[in-house]
Amino acid sequence: MPIVATTASVEETRLLGEAVATLAGTGDVVVLAGDLGAGKTAFVQGFGRGLGVQERITSPTFTLVHVYDGRLAVHHLDVYRLEHLSEASDLGLAEMLDDGGVVLIEWGDAIARLLPRDHLDVRLTFGADDDDRVIELVPVGPHWARRTDALLAALQPWAGGG
Ligand SMILES: Nc1ncnc2c1ncn2[C@@H]1O[C@H](COP(=O)(O)OP(=O)(O)O)[C@@H](O)[C@H]1O
Ligand SMILES: [Mg+2]
Repeated sequence: MPIVATTASVEETRLLGEAVATLAGTGDVVVLAGDLGAGKTAFVQGFGRGLGVQERITSPTFTLVHVYDGRLAVHHLDVYRLEHLSEASDLGLAEMLDDGGVVLIEWGDAIARLLPRDHLDVRLTFGADDDDRVIELVPVGPHWARRTDALLAALQPWAGGG
């Protein structure tokens, strides 16, 4: 059962990401789906801010992965340009998770097969107005399911369908 949130500006999407980060712990995986410009990177910027990342978070489209220092290490991946699943196997996902940090993957549904069962699915779509976004969050696996109520509470300011 997805949690549905709506935002009306890029800053609101960052604040929502920041709210989700208050629940983040070691080994967490967040998978971001949505078309170009939907706000996946904006969500990660807020999430990183929530974990105390000082550095400016930018899209890792060409390098595939950026790592930022925060309360937890933030691994930010964008696998949009991956052409073969075999390349994804080489990303070192397991090592990143062993590292004790969190992993956020843009376009992660493209490599769904390689993802750990426990993850938070975040799907962003365009809303009625230019700056509106509808953000659906689905906890997958026991690790995130346990935090569904906390997630609902944290996302209260943006609750409700578009
Ligand atoms: N509600 C909103 N949430 C997120 N981004 C928004 C919103 N409204 C407008 N935008 C704009 O949409 C773009 C989102 O870009 P980005 O986060 O890089 O998307 P993606 O990573 O999904 O391609 C930015 O230019 C941002 O200013
Ligand atoms: Mg992006």
